Amino acid sequence: MIYLDNGATSFPKPKEMIEAMDACMLSYCGNPGRSGHDLSRRTGEEVYKTRKRLAGFFHISDPEQVIFTSNTTQALNMAIKGVLGRGDHVITTSMEHNSVLRPIRALAEQGVTYTIVPCERDGSLTLSRMEQAIRTNTKLMVCTQASNVTGTILPVKELSRLCRKNHILFLTDGAQGAGHLPMDARDFDMLAAPGHKGLLGPLGTGFLYVRKGVDIKPIMEGGTGTASKDIVQPRELPEGYEAGTINAPGIIGLGASLSFVEKIGMEAICGHQRELTQMLDCSLRNMKHVTVYGPCDCRKKVGIVTFNIEGYDCEETASLLNDEFGIAVRGGFHCAGLAHKTIGTWDTGAVRMSVGIYNTKRQMEIAADAINKLAKRR
Ligand code: ALA
Repeated sequence: MIYLDNGATSFPKPKEMIEAMDACMLSYCGNPGRSGHDLSRRTGEEVYKTRKRLAGFFHISDPEQVIFTSNTTQALNMAIKGVLGRGDHVITTSMEHNSVLRPIRALAEQGVTYTIVPCERDGSLTLSRMEQAIRTNTKLMVCTQASNVTGTILPVKELSRLCRKNHILFLTDGAQGAGHLPMDARDFDMLAAPGHKGLLGPLGTGFLYVRKGVDIKPIMEGGTGTASKDIVQPRELPEGYEAGTINAPGIIGLGASLSFVEKIGMEAICGHQRELTQMLDCSLRNMKHVTVYGPCDCRKKVGIVTFNIEGYDCEETASLLNDEFGIAVRGGFHCAGLAHKTIGTWDTGAVRMSVGIYNTKRQMEIAADAINKLAKRR
């Protein structure tokens, strides 16, 4: 199988991650932060190591500002619902995933207003449009670092600067950026990211970074292992925001994966993925009956190549690639209907190939060849 669905989750995972999770489950997995016995303490220490490692990787000064979540969706919900209330206005873009758009839409029922700024057809964003959308009651701006549909990189640093100038909070969705692009969390007020994509960790892991001084209310109450006699939810970071038993083996696995990513280095990862993306993108753009979406210049996107073959439904293409050629891709609307509307595939959806650290040039040739065969067969 040639795995080109790294945008959904990365595969395979480093063996170091599996070994770390195995060791945890086999020899010491107590409930961290709950009991004082050796197993609970050891698990707590290992979880803290991942928190510290993540903080280091994203240039976060204090590991306590890293809140573990089950995925990016949970982190985005916590950030969006944690800062917005009745009377507030929020600005976002038409390239966002539904895990940004749906929480915002849900808040409209509670008196929050929103503006969705349209992006260009290649998924790029004109900064001035975001500026023009600012109102006196704008409290938050949310923007993805890179689109999960086209890979287009959005100008999040510039947006964050614009927000600081206007006393607006800025949240970035790092679902497709973390581990694919260099990232400094200090550029943002909040950063939501997955553990299981570019950081190569297990599914069921993610985190939210909250800058010191940003006041967010917890959206879920429950046991924190602290202040047990008080029925009011504690607001201390991170435990006030990690109610309930956390996914300790997953988090410990994420720590091992992150260490693997650090060893390879972001420069090498970015360079490798860009080279593969360029190969695939160029091959497809030169094929008859194939339309590629998103920016032509691969420096303007992460490792995603999204396309359609004339005469094929996108799901059909995805199935044929899987069944006949052993190539794993994702067809459809990628939980981002508005992004498809923006790039002109509202009616058709598209096929997405997303590369990862383990892919090779040879695999790009095989994938391009398979698509060419399908295009010729139509
Ligand atoms: N959000 C993930 C994707 O884009 C699952 O496939």
